[in-house]
Amino acid sequence: MKPRVAIITGGTTGIGLACAEALLARGHRVAIGARRAGEAGVQAEMARLLGPGVRVAALDVADRASVDGFFQGVRDSLGEPTILVNAAGIYQEAFLHDHDEDAWLDQIEINLTGSFRMTRAVFGGMIAAGWGRIANIASTAGTRGERGYAAYCASKAGLIGLSKATAVEGAPHGISCIAVSPTWVETPMMGKAFDRIAAAQGITREAARATLAGSNPQGRIVQPGEIAALVDFFCLDAAPGFTNVDVQINAGADW
Ligand SMILES: NC(=O)c1ccc[n+]([C@@H]2O[C@H](COP(=O)([O-])OP(=O)(O)OC[C@H]3O[C@@H](n4cnc5c(N)ncnc54)[C@H](OP(=O)(O)O)[C@@H]3O)[C@@H](O)[C@H]2O)c1
Repeated sequence: MKPRVAIITGGTTGIGLACAEALLARGHRVAIGARRAGEAGVQAEMARLLGPGVRVAALDVADRASVDGFFQGVRDSLGEPTILVNAAGIYQEAFLHDHDEDAWLDQIEINLTGSFRMTRAVFGGMIAAGWGRIANIASTAGTRGERGYAAYCASKAGLIGLSKATAVEGAPHGISCIAVSPTWVETPMMGKAFDRIAAAQGITREAARATLAGSNPQGRIVQPGEIAALVDFFCLDAAPGFTNVDVQINAGADW
């Protein structure tokens, strides 16, 4: 397998971190970007988890200048990126009738427009290389509605649409793009849901975790490595036809 340069947004925790581990194990050169990735503590933790060869730099996908600066830094230090994993994301629960507009805009900006900005940054280099892989971490929320998640659902539905358009536009250039849509995955993001359920029901965090695990048909919570395994397969030279799909990793759940 030819070593490539891979950018992983949101690679400091959760699903992005698992993807970084998988792509590093394949011998790729990995660059991770997140808002707090420039902090000394985060840098040290990343070096401890992933080794010193990984580029870890501040990136805010909601800020065009930050995206451009991050991309240029990766290109100058590691070379032209031909793998992109858009894992940066946020969610904030709110009901529609009094939905805070900033909360709506933040989720659209980071989850959807941020992925567009990153895709636009890498696309020209991928066309020139005649090879590219873009994995957008969407969600089952992109194809199913849920009360209290309007902005998140809308952002992920948009991301699935962006993925399909990217796949079609990239196909003649050897660029593949998929959306990967998990159900709940055990990450710091899901920890917020544990806390909310625990507070609402007056139960412990462990009991809240058990409630969510029990609500899944497989009776368990999906782990980040399951998402990374799919992204790893997608990035293989052996899988050029795997594109233009939204792949759910749902353990049997609709949401
Ligand atoms: N966990 C789940 O249940 C689940 C299910 C389906 C889909 N997903 C999706 O999977 C992706 C990863 O989620 P996760 O569960 O791994 O979440 P997580 O552990 O909270 O990680 C989110 C990552 O995104 C980064 N990030 C957030 N805003 C950013 C921004 N503006 N610019 C750059 N980086 C930013 C965070 O770092 P900083 O805070 O330092 O920026 C962090 O590295 C998200 O898109 C999420 O929507 C998650």
